[in-house]
Amino acid sequence: MPTHLQTNLDQYGSQAQAYLDSPVHAQGPDLAKAQALVAQSIPARGQALDVGCGAGHLSFALAPHLARIVALDPSPQMLATVQQAALARGLRHIETVPSSAERLPFPDATFDLVCSRYSAHHWTQLAPALKEMRRVLKPGGRLLLIDVQGEEDALVDSHLQAIELLRDRSHVRNRAVSQWGTLLADAGFIDIDHDSWPVHIDYSSWVARMRTPASRVAMIREVQTDAPQEVQEALAIERDGSFTFTTGLFWARADV
Ligand SMILES: C[S@@+](CC[C@H](N)C(=O)[O-])C[C@H]1O[C@@H](n2cnc3c(N)ncnc32)[C@H](O)[C@@H]1O
Repeated sequence: MPTHLQTNLDQYGSQAQAYLDSPVHAQGPDLAKAQALVAQSIPARGQALDVGCGAGHLSFALAPHLARIVALDPSPQMLATVQQAALARGLRHIETVPSSAERLPFPDATFDLVCSRYSAHHWTQLAPALKEMRRVLKPGGRLLLIDVQGEEDALVDSHLQAIELLRDRSHVRNRAVSQWGTLLADAGFIDIDHDSWPVHIDYSSWVARMRTPASRVAMIREVQTDAPQEVQEALAIERDGSFTFTTGLFWARADV
């Protein structure tokens, strides 16, 4: 069997353009909030690292407020897509680096901002990765972390993780807000703020974007239709499999 990293590269390598075009990734109130936070807190000469940049939507949104952005991802195809799209947008201060969150190839205290969006649920070693992000931040620098939230209710969470894993073999886990609080504090982050938004997921485009095999598409529908009423309500599961999850944004400062 392939390793988790190889599975991730297989899943994402061929889908870079789909992620560039995906409305779930290209838009969202989290991007507007991220822009506002960065504009008010990071100096215009600031340097940022975007971990798990995918097709680059977070980097593109923050680029007008920063002097340099390093977009990092293990997938060479994603990085090639970012390079092309950045040039097309005239964003020459975005550079790309192939690596993973668990191993950031930068000296200590390099960046004013380290950010990540819709990627951390793929990381196999989340706690060490957060410590790496803290390491490359200047003391007092900012962390901006956006991801699908896990559910505090164990029954609802089990169903969410099940459908996420059936859809995408590179899924590891969505963390609940209480888990994030502990993980971020343990990694050396303070003054942690949190915001969240419901995100409506259109079922057919959600599975198409990941090229989920038909057998797994059917399994997800079975998990959804068999789910008890409290899960149906919490995830707002619709007749066609569309549902709603929560996107969380964490904004924190590196301790000094
Ligand atoms: C959904 S995409 C990211 C979306 C993007 N950040 C945005 O704002 O639209 C998830 C990305 O996480 C990357 N990824 C997976 N495992 C990773 C890891 N261990 N470290 C860094 N990135 C990882 C994948 O290669 C993929 O490009």
